[in-house]
Amino acid sequence: PATTARLAHGDLAVGGVPLTEIAGRFGTPAYLIDEDDVRTRCRTYLQAFSGAEVHYAAKAFLCRAMAHWVAEEGLGLDVCSAGELELAVTTGFPAERILLHGNAKSPHDLNAALRLGVGRIVIDSASEIARLAAAVPPGSRQKVLVRVVPGIAAGGHAKIRTGTDDQKFGLSIADGSAQHAIARVLGQPGLELSGLHCHLGSQITTDKPFLAAVRRLVGLLARTKEQHGVTLAELDLGGGHGIAYRPGEPALDITALARKVRAALTESCAAAGLAVPKLLVEPGRAIAGPAGVALYRVLAVKRTGGRAFVAVDGGMSDNPRPALYGVRYAPRLIGRRSTTPPAPVTVVGRHCEAGDVLASDVELPGDVRPGDILGVPVAGAYHLSMASAYNLVGRPPVVAVADGHARLLVRRESLADFRSRDVGL
Ligand code: LLP
Repeated sequence: PATTARLAHGDLAVGGVPLTEIAGRFGTPAYLIDEDDVRTRCRTYLQAFSGAEVHYAAKAFLCRAMAHWVAEEGLGLDVCSAGELELAVTTGFPAERILLHGNAKSPHDLNAALRLGVGRIVIDSASEIARLAAAVPPGSRQKVLVRVVPGIAAGGHAKIRTGTDDQKFGLSIADGSAQHAIARVLGQPGLELSGLHCHLGSQITTDKPFLAAVRRLVGLLARTKEQHGVTLAELDLGGGHGIAYRPGEPALDITALARKVRAALTESCAAAGLAVPKLLVEPGRAIAGPAGVALYRVLAVKRTGGRAFVAVDGGMSDNPRPALYGVRYAPRLIGRRSTTPPAPVTVVGRHCEAGDVLASDVELPGDVRPGDILGVPVAGAYHLSMASAYNLVGRPPVVAVADGHARLLVRRESLADFRSRDVGL
């Protein structure tokens, strides 16, 4: 709660550093990440899920420092491209603690995974089985999980639901593709099937879907044992643990989730006469999200059509989430105490389209004006990792705060960066 809770009022500091100081030193827009908060969240997971493997989902936010913190805290890493993989491994992340995902892994992704020696590769389609088996060097074996679709609808928005058959990920239990894939993998000498995987979706705020998934997957483990005489040792429940973006919103209680998942797993395995498999989870958002804050400077304030618009120097290029999923944020005025009563405003970005809205109908002090700094809490996950080069604004820097010090992790993207890629005329 540390970072988010601090952003309630007035002149704020995160990690012992005033946010205004960060804005002054590194400019705006800027993203800061609270190192202690990230580490505390990692530890909370390891404690809650003791005995399980916790893999941080790198897609939420990755840079070398983040990989380093997560490695130091003893978590594994879930990556979904050769890019994420190579960044982590070249930072010293132990490859055997990495798991590769992807519904369309390129030959480059698979070769990088095999060359660097990732712990597990998650099979997402039937065609991938032969392709992967052919790439495994003769005489060696690659551990794999089969990603199954359990037929459970869960997740904060239609675009991030992956537990039912009407989406692109995984192999359906309902139509038998999962069972078929399991049989095929078991027939490949180069592949070692260590278990099953499912990821229901993202921003799930109740534990029921996870418990239902445990039961479905244990059912499939039992059928695998019946049909093939094989007891699979691992069960990966994916990520998707929901967080609060605004005060008062529901969030998943990780400790309660872990306790209930363990109980459901023990109970269903006992009923099926199976040994309890090792559990894996893959949280991304719940580790990085609440530890991040986006800082913007107000550039213009305008009243039109009965609304007040507050325009800032970032927008959909650094945070596409309101436009994509209709997510609502709670921006705060930072660094100046205002006695003017709050009034409803819409915070918009600087990009060339009307849909570039960061927060509609939020309350800010009625005298908010150009030059003010706004902070958007809960900005650590799926902001910068989904940032674009729209309008060549340049992606914001990432600043780590810890123990009263701020340090630059990732510098701001510059015109020189765009120029260097633009090689033709
Ligand atoms: N494991 C797998 C296989 C995943 O696909 C994902 C997320 C995770 C774990 C981590 O999920 P988390 O714990 O972070 O919810 N861009 C969207 C979220 C897409 C999530 C994609 N997969 C957003 O901004 O909400």
